[in-house]
Amino acid sequence: MDTPEIVKKAPFAVPVEAGKAYWWCACGRSAQQPFCDGSHKGTAFRPVKYQPTEDGKAFFCGCKHSGNQPLCDGTHKQL
Ligand code: FES
Ligand code: FES
Repeated sequence: MDTPEIVKKAPFAVPVEAGKAYWWCACGRSAQQPFCDGSHKGTAFRPVKYQPTEDGKAFFCGCKHSGNQPLCDGTHKQL
């Protein structure tokens, strides 16, 4: 199993719209963080879909080690 690259040890706070699909980068290789740009090709990683039911702000995991992907769960503090 590949290890994801740590992009940063903090979440990305992103305004999100209800019903819209967001594809979070799980591999850490995307140049368009925190979202997938296809750079996972050739790895075991796939992006994770996030579709909020309400408008608001989402805290997407930047360290790629969250236990609650695609959102930050505080795991970055232990890295
Ligand atoms: Fe990282 Fe697609 S580029 S999951
Ligand atoms: Fe990954 Fe917080 S940024 S758990």
